[in-house]
This record gives sequence, structure tokens and C-alpha cells, in this order.
Amino acid sequence: MALDAADHAAVIGFCDKERIGLVVIGPEAPLVDGLADSLRAQGVSVFGPSKAAAQLEGSKGFTKDLCERAGIPTAGYVRTASLDSALAALDRFQPPYVLKADGLAAGKGVVIAGTRAEAEAALADMYDGRFGAAGAEVVIEEFMEGEEASFFALTDGASILSFGSAQDHKRVGEGDTGPNTGGMGAYSPAAILGPLMRGEVLERIIAPTVRILADEGMPYSGVLFAGLMLTREGPKLIEYNCRFGDPECQVLMTRLESDLGELMLACAENRLGTCEPVRFKKATALTVVVAAKGYPNAPEKGGAIDLGKSEGEGAKVFHAGTSLTPDGILVANGGRVLNVTATGASVTEAQAKAYQAVDAIRFPSGFFRRDIGQKEVDREKRKAV
Ligand code: AMP
Ligand code: GLY
Repeated sequence: MALDAADHAAVIGFCDKERIGLVVIGPEAPLVDGLADSLRAQGVSVFGPSKAAAQLEGSKGFTKDLCERAGIPTAGYVRTASLDSALAALDRFQPPYVLKADGLAAGKGVVIAGTRAEAEAALADMYDGRFGAAGAEVVIEEFMEGEEASFFALTDGASILSFGSAQDHKRVGEGDTGPNTGGMGAYSPAAILGPLMRGEVLERIIAPTVRILADEGMPYSGVLFAGLMLTREGPKLIEYNCRFGDPECQVLMTRLESDLGELMLACAENRLGTCEPVRFKKATALTVVVAAKGYPNAPEKGGAIDLGKSEGEGAKVFHAGTSLTPDGILVANGGRVLNVTATGASVTEAQAKAYQAVDAIRFPSGFFRRDIGQKEVDREKRKAV
């Protein structure tokens, strides 16, 4: 049955009728829209933050202010509410300029401008409504240098359990070129985020976030996904997401050994403190996104897909944007179409298996990056000699 997540009364009615014991809210829009609050008010258990706490993803300015109040390491920033104030604020930064629409923009609301002229043009564009309501405010940030990695934690607002790490590939093109996307591939764990650094992230970023949100009357319940820049001064927060991430979710779940349902219920029922640490397989999981040509701007719809023998040993194909035609043909129906996922003892092995599976697929109107995990594969090579 199709249920409109924006229609809270309909969702509540469905949960009532079907006696639903736990609702897991996956994407950011219904979280930011307060679906968790509406359900909780009716006594339905929910995995996912309240509207107030989901501002962590819903408003870049909210998160930057919160970091400042809690002393969480992140890039210096200015919030601007008009084109004039944004243009004036540029004086306080050096190029490259990082410009972010405040609200939700499906991962596409960030512009990194190499020159002042580019920054001015981008700001004019943003304040001219390019991101709709999401661009009513623009945050300008200091540019951070380093490698990116993601860290995940479950929390019920008081207790925290670490939920592993991953590394995404945001740019559409190989060698991290071209426009940002929702993510073209990922692997987990991110070896670059070693045990010492994970401890630092928990202590200096995750824990103070959970604490300040609780102290300020908006306890966070659900999964916290911290996008990090590993700078020379240590890990700094780029942004928070209030969900598992796509395609990070695919690699995290492929490795998960603990009972996910039990962990989510424990978050919803404020008893995460009684749970054991989350267990993952030692193996690395790597996923390659196969997208429709034209993504992220104008993905071609309807291209035929033949999965062939892709789901062989250790590989799994998650469908992201596919549909079946009335005569049963699998076709593309979205920007990111497939997530071809494999595991191995190393990133090198997982990568080889994933691309073997990708190469078994026939999807002439699709494309993918050949270099998912390559930085880590190169590091593994150097370690081996
Ligand atoms: P966000 O949507 O905030 O995660 O930003 C999207 C991407 O822009 C990040 O994954 C980074 O690659 C880049 N980015 C965002 N903020 C900064 C920053 N302050 N310095 C350098 N790169 C950034
Ligand atoms: N892959 C990043 C995200 O889901 O936001």
C-alpha cells in the first residue's frame, strides 16, 4: 500500500490499523517535517529524531551555531540572510569560498567557488531562489583541507553506541571531479579513521552534540551520521545527517552482525544503555553506484538493464532507482539506479569483486566510477611493500 509520508494522519491511521510496533523513518524530509513527533504523540515507537533535533540536517546554520555553543571542531562560518550581507561577508574569507544553502537540497546545496567572482555569482544565484526555500539563508564557511570520512553513532538522547565508519565518493567523476552528487560509491570501514581518531570523534564531536541537544530540550534519538574532514589539526565536522546515508547504508548493513531491529527499538524506547556494543564483520564492504547517464542534472529514464550474473559470490545488487515495465523488463527509473555491493578481506579484494559484478551488468544508458575505494587500495598497496 502506498502511504504519503507527508500525510501524518494517514501514517498514524495505518500504524493503528496494522498495530505497528516500530516505525523507522529513513529519509531526511519526513524527519525535518516532524513525522517522528506526530507518531510519538500517538504512542507509536519511532526510530528517528524529532523535528527539533532533525534541524541538525535541516539547517546548516542551526548546526554551526550548535557547534559554536558546544565547542565542537568545525570550519569557521558566517550566517547570512541577504545577498548584500553575504557579499560583504566574503571579505572575511580566503578562496576557495564554501557557500551553503541553509536548508535541505538533496546534497546539492553546496558551492565551492575558486575565485571571488565565482563566489559572487553563486551567491547571487542562491539568493535568486536556485534552491528555493532552502536558500533563504546562506552559510559561508572557511575551506577545510583534508580527506573526508564518515562516522556513525546510534543514540537515544543519553547513551551512544558507535556504529562504524565509511568513506563516500561525492563527485560524479573519477578522480573526484565534476559536480557533487548524493554519492557515487562507498566502502566501510574507513581505515583512515583509526581507533584513536574514532575515539576523538566520539569525545569531541558526537558526545557534545548529544549532550547539548539534550540539555537544550531537544534530545536526539536515532542515528547520527557525521561527515568529517580529517585535517592536520584533527577531525572536524563538515555536516550532520540524521539518517544512515545512501550509499553508506548499503556498506554498513552488509557488515552488520548485531540485530538492527533490536538496536533501533532500544533507541526508540530509551534503553540503548543496556545494549552491547554494535558488532560488525571484520570484512570490508564496497559499493559502486551505477547511475543513469545525465545524473546528477538530467538522468535518462527508461534505459533497459540486464543484471546478468552480477549477483555471484559475495556480491549483491541493491535497487535504488529501478522499475519493471508491464512486460517485466527492468528499467532505470531515477538518477542513482543500482548499488553493486561486495565484501572482501581488504578494500582491494572488495573492490575487485564489486567491479567484477558491475562488469556483468548490461545497462547501456548507465555509467559508474571506476575508482571507488581507489585511494585506500593504493594505501593497501604501499603497506604491502
Ligand atoms: P555538505 O553537504 O555540507 O556535506 O558538503 C558537501 C561537500 O562539500 C562535502 O562533502 C565536502 O566535500 C565539501 N565541503 C563542505 N564544506 C566544506 C568545507 N568547509 N571545506 C571544504 N570542503 C567542504
Ligand atoms: N551519501 C551521502 C548522503 O546520503 O547524504
